[in-house]
Amino acid sequence: MSEERKWRIGIVGYGHVGIYLVNQIQREGDKYNVELAFVWNRTMKKMEATLAPHLQLQNLAEFEKREADLIIEVAHPSVTRTYGEHFLSAANLLVGSPTALADEDTERRLRGRAKLSGYTLYIPSGALWGGEDIMKMADRGTLRSLKITMTKHPSSFKLEGKLAEKDLSTIQERTVLYEGPTRQLCPMAPNNVNTMAAASLAAHTLGFDKVIGVLVADPSVPDRHLVDIEVTGPTNETTGLVFSVTTRRSNPAAPGAVTGAATFGSFWSSVLACKGHGGRMFFC
Ligand SMILES: NC(=O)c1ccc[n+]([C@@H]2O[C@H](COP(=O)([O-])OP(=O)(O)OC[C@H]3O[C@@H](n4cnc5c(N)ncnc54)[C@H](O)[C@@H]3O)[C@@H](O)[C@H]2O)c1
Repeated sequence: MSEERKWRIGIVGYGHVGIYLVNQIQREGDKYNVELAFVWNRTMKKMEATLAPHLQLQNLAEFEKREADLIIEVAHPSVTRTYGEHFLSAANLLVGSPTALADEDTERRLRGRAKLSGYTLYIPSGALWGGEDIMKMADRGTLRSLKITMTKHPSSFKLEGKLAEKDLSTIQERTVLYEGPTRQLCPMAPNNVNTMAAASLAAHTLGFDKVIGVLVADPSVPDRHLVDIEVTGPTNETTGLVFSVTTRRSNPAAPGAVTGAATFGSFWSSVLACKGHGGRMFFC
């Protein structure tokens, strides 16, 4: 009897998350019937020291030769912007940097390509708690507002654009770096607000223009990442009471770390759920 074909995974980006995923696949691949199709990184040096040559992909444009069933982008939003459509024409795609989709053209192109090809555009929940509930409210037309506040130590931020002008090392007390639509925030904090991007996609009736993101630098939380979510729904016509949910996720994180410890585990669970859900966006 022939052996069942394993689900082949291509990893694009060999940094903290990419290395973690490669290790997980090598360690637990047999258990979950998955294997590595390839690993690509912008610079080869890091890979050459640790990965078998047949797993290394030198030229990303040649990814199709490796016949991956699932490609995981864990490099940078610009990689999803540039290659996302191409990946989706030949494989399912898990976008590890969903802040890329705050760019309207990228979101439109990727959704369109998934529909055409029948491959799934996966969005990992990452540090987002209650994403499915938020999406259900959006689906039913009952979601009124969503505010998501992310609080980290000043050393945990990697900022760009206008936000990068501030010297975070001088911050002595809780400081709000940004408050407003997530659309403008995502390109200025592409590594820090993937959770807000996932929330903006789940809350599809509000989207990146109406979901409010608050980014807070707080020196008093050196060892945790906090994510506070505030949702409101309809007002009861008789009582005037408003439906609301608030949650706080407190995730231990090494000082200066961009990603909290529990988020790696969440990411692995997301990967294992990506077995093809047809030509659409799917949260996992
Ligand atoms: N969705 C989530 O929950 C979640 C969690 C953690 C990280 N992320 C995202 O995943 C991505 C990787 O995170 P990480 O912590 O592994 O980062 P990292 O900096 O440790 O690694 C990134 C890797 O990608 C490469 N890279 C960086 N910029 C690039 C570019 N412009 N073009 C091509 N390659 C580039 C680097 O060489 C590096 O090897 C980031 O975009 C990050 O925001 C998402």
